Amino acid sequence: MRDQNANILLRPRRLRSGPSIRSMVRETRLHADDLIMPLFVEPGSNVKRPITLMPGQYRYSIDMLPAAVDALLEVGVRSVILFGIPERKDSTGSDSLHDDGIVQKALRTLRSSHPDLYLITDVCLCEYTDHGHCGVLRNGVVINDETLRLLQKQAVSHADSGADMVAPSGMMDGMTAALRSSLDTEGHTGVSIMSYSVKYASAYYGPFREAADSSPQQGNRRAYQMDPPNRREALREARLDVAEGADIIMVKPALAYLDIVRMVRDDVACPVACYNVSGEYSMIKAAAAAGMIDEQAVMMETLVSMKRAGADLILTYFAEDAARLLKQGAP
Ligand code: PBG
Ligand code: ZN
Repeated sequence: MRDQNANILLRPRRLRSGPSIRSMVRETRLHADDLIMPLFVEPGSNVKRPITLMPGQYRYSIDMLPAAVDALLEVGVRSVILFGIPERKDSTGSDSLHDDGIVQKALRTLRSSHPDLYLITDVCLCEYTDHGHCGVLRNGVVINDETLRLLQKQAVSHADSGADMVAPSGMMDGMTAALRSSLDTEGHTGVSIMSYSVKYASAYYGPFREAADSSPQQGNRRAYQMDPPNRREALREARLDVAEGADIIMVKPALAYLDIVRMVRDDVACPVACYNVSGEYSMIKAAAAAGMIDEQAVMMETLVSMKRAGADLILTYFAEDAARLLKQGAP
């Protein structure tokens, strides 16, 4: 390309010619503070159960959580999102609602072992219902407003047990407004909401459903999660959640939806998170194990692509590994 006036060749390669200049002009950076680690907790003691479909990830009993958190803090990851696998399941997920539920107990343990850890909880019913749907089921339909009342109870109980932030993931209409109002009524005005605002009905959740034992026994989630081809609808969901009082908007999955992340980032003023979901994690793990790709390089490139698309925060099973690399000086 020639400069119109001076007839000088423009050479973008000058700014790529060495590590110092590349670092100086780098537009996007990952930081451990951007990363939120999902943790699975199950009943029992002394359990660190490998999740078969997610190599390197585990289900922990409550007594094993503090050590897992130590490892995260060591590399600078300061926030976790908890998922619970309950003792028993029933039609309304009642094990998720009381203060002795698995997540509530885990919250109290971590709140006392690590007072500064930022504790987020996933608020949904699918891990706790015997049918595996995210709400109360009647004739194959998830009943929205009845589900909201249960989610309100669950969220308040999480807040009572020490959660800093609750993250409703069930894609029920009005879930953010419902949670905000009961949290406020119960004195939890300081507890934040990160809404899974834009959550698609995705096949990328497959490994998670094995990990959390939360597959729908019948049917699928297409009547409440979003249809993957839709884009305008994402704006509608994001704007509704902002209006309902969400503190952070989440887009999920991440990698196949980076266009949506960018669009939402450009539309709302609050922080935007994206969820680098289980299937995205497992694909990288499997391809690396097969010798097809360089795991660390692809992991970092994938995570930075999410930031470049506009995500302020990334929920990722790679949080610990990526933060360790960053600590060692990776760009
Ligand atoms: C529960 C929930 C799911 C995920 C997060 N919260 C599963 C689902 O909606 O089926 C998926 C996370 C992942 O795949 O890593 N509603
Ligand atoms: Zn759910």
